[in-house]
Amino acid sequence: MEHNKKRKIVIAIDGHSSCGKSTFAKAIAARLGYIFIDTGAMYRSVTLYALEHGAICNGIVNEDAVIALLDDITITFRFNPMRGASDIYVNGDLVEGKIRTIEVSNFVSAVSSIAQVREKLVAMQQQMGASRGVVMDGRDIGTVVFPDAELKIFMTAEPKVRAERRYAELTAKGDKVCFEEILENVISRDHADMNRAISPLRQAADAIVLDNSYMTVAEQMEWFDAQYERVLSTL
Ligand code: DC
Repeated sequence: MEHNKKRKIVIAIDGHSSCGKSTFAKAIAARLGYIFIDTGAMYRSVTLYALEHGAICNGIVNEDAVIALLDDITITFRFNPMRGASDIYVNGDLVEGKIRTIEVSNFVSAVSSIAQVREKLVAMQQQMGASRGVVMDGRDIGTVVFPDAELKIFMTAEPKVRAERRYAELTAKGDKVCFEEILENVISRDHADMNRAISPLRQAADAIVLDNSYMTVAEQMEWFDAQYERVLSTL
């Protein structure tokens, strides 16, 4: 058993937007001493860069322009001890505080449905997890990025609960936001994520579902510990 505990695995966390995947993944990584990678932050960073460099104009994503920018984008993560997680940088600039705006949220589904964008980011993610010992959250981690992940979790929560959480998060930061707009964004992103042609969001056959609509973080951790023990006992 002790031998198994030392064995590092890949933990893939996929699911709907705004259901606390990152909070959950970050807590697990801290518990296990694993690296946490928020792949949504990578798609958001490409979207921000596209917005700032004219590839998204008048509400329209110019796919060719986004693709042409890809070679200019270098994404890195640096651990921030104050947050207990890694901050994301684009070409050396800290973008962590700029990627979760409603503007980026409104365009990220379109940007993340571009094949070349996914190709570049998936290759980076596979490289980041090559030595295992990672908790990666996203939409296609258990299906495309690490189909051989030892533990796959599919997270979900009711849309209204997810919108309430995002609303609280944004208003706490001082953003002036409208609840209805956030709820609409949550629902339309679910639709876009699940219906896009490339790597749509879907539950891997061997993933286990965690619906955390009415669960505290502590209850989710307890649930995780049981799943982790179960997986280790099979290795
Ligand atoms: O997890 P998030 O809400 O920050 O993700 C932002 C968007 O990025 C989401 O709408 C879908 C996309 N995404 C993706 O297509 N594949 C991933 N592995 C992660 C995120």
